[in-house]
Amino acid sequence: MMQLQDILFSQGFGTRRICCGLIQQGLVQVGPQALVCTDPTELIPPEGLSFRVQGETWQYHAQAYLMLHKPAGHECSQKPSTYPSIYTLLPGPLRNRGGGAAAGVQAVGRLDQDTTGLLLLSDDGKFIHRMTSPRHHVPKVYEVQVKHPLDDRQVARLLAGVVLEDDPKPVRAAACEAVSEHHLRLTLTEGKYHQVKRMVAAVSNRVEGLHRSAIGSITLPPDLLPGQWRWLSAEEVLALTQKTK
Ligand code: URA
Repeated sequence: MMQLQDILFSQGFGTRRICCGLIQQGLVQVGPQALVCTDPTELIPPEGLSFRVQGETWQYHAQAYLMLHKPAGHECSQKPSTYPSIYTLLPGPLRNRGGGAAAGVQAVGRLDQDTTGLLLLSDDGKFIHRMTSPRHHVPKVYEVQVKHPLDDRQVARLLAGVVLEDDPKPVRAAACEAVSEHHLRLTLTEGKYHQVKRMVAAVSNRVEGLHRSAIGSITLPPDLLPGQWRWLSAEEVLALTQKTK
């Protein structure tokens, strides 16, 4: 059981004082019948709770795990230099939950400003670490549009390993296929800076478009349009973490 004011606070609806005020002003409705509750200390079981704050429906999640279809022209930084931040695509509570300096959900790794596709976000530090640590080899699938026609040699070199300028150890694709003359599908299990672009450049080609279609067991759903996000289901989170232990 949790007090209603603590539920709102934990979900990112502002400081405890603000949450208390929202409830006292009658702006919070609780449960399937959307009953107004004006007692901030009312004890409610939070799991599975749906509530409305100023008309906005929210689902209680002890921890946040979500997917975003990253559109082009957005930076993954909280403090972007040129383009808008991906965090502006998320509702306020997701950016504020937890309070404090490191509030809100964080991206699980980064995509370049011009890259589109699947991005996971969470406020669970252990999950982020597990998904980004090279030790866990989480496969990430990239759909790559390339400038010059692909040939077997380029594919073979990407699979065998190419040397990038800042690292003497070759990096190799876990899987690589030419889907068509200008479409390469590349699977990586690490995430170095500009890795796909640099690997493709190392085989004398050039990335003209980059889209991430999958991370581990999660594939970007076709109905999640650029800029849209949704919660991951408990099963999706479990599948991701079980396979990457
Ligand atoms: N590799 C890149 O070069 N860019 C990305 O955004 C992701 C992987």
